[in-house]
Amino acid sequence: MIIAGNWKMNMTRDAARSLVTALSDDRANAAGDSQMVVFPPAVLIDTVCAAASGLAASGLAVGGQDCHAMDSGAHTGDIAAPMLAEAGCQWVLVGHSERRADHGESSAMVADKARAAIRAGLKVMICVGETLDEREAGRANEVVGAQVLDSLPEGLTADQFAIAYEPVWAIGTGKVASPDDVDDMHNHIRAVLTGRDASYDRIDILYGGSVKPDNAEALLGLDNVGGALVGGASLKADDFIAIARAAG
Ligand code: PGA
Repeated sequence: MIIAGNWKMNMTRDAARSLVTALSDDRANAAGDSQMVVFPPAVLIDTVCAAASGLAASGLAVGGQDCHAMDSGAHTGDIAAPMLAEAGCQWVLVGHSERRADHGESSAMVADKARAAIRAGLKVMICVGETLDEREAGRANEVVGAQVLDSLPEGLTADQFAIAYEPVWAIGTGKVASPDDVDDMHNHIRAVLTGRDASYDRIDILYGGSVKPDNAEALLGLDNVGGALVGGASLKADDFIAIARAAG
């Protein structure tokens, strides 16, 4: 089980340091075997890595929120996967719906970014999810299935990636998908994954979209839910720790 915090474009250096210190302390005392990952803004990665590794047995991994498909070059404002790896990251998020919407990223571009991440030795968390219009038109499975297949490079091994299912209409809105809908979609994603490669039966499929301490247990208890990708509630130590506790 992976409990991941997507900080998006939030936090200051001081706030990041105290949040990570609280999370590291929690990890040192946590009983379960869930893994915690935080995705800070790129300029805070150094600070977060320093705060996490300075604390014994932090059990906390760090990731970038995006990477470029190329390893270096003339791409102003972008960040290359090898830079994230050198800064101390183990993970990178690719294909978050905010990147797909704000930066016009297609699934083919997401797959190129995922390839770059793997070349750099990072694990990749590939985000997928339908819009409200697509769900209301009865196309959620079709859209998400295609996003999974098209965003996932051929030949990845099961220990190199995770999938995060985040219905766009549930992100930052307080509208969480019902456990039945999450169950149906995660079963569908599992079938799509194992249709590609039988070893993908053990890939963690995270749910994201308004996960909070009071709904985490119901969502994380579902068979094919392998964790949570948390936005707003990952910025508060108490809430994020409560969600991690719900993962066991
Ligand atoms: P939210 O964001 O938890 O604030 O809905 C989730 C995400 O976008 O990863």
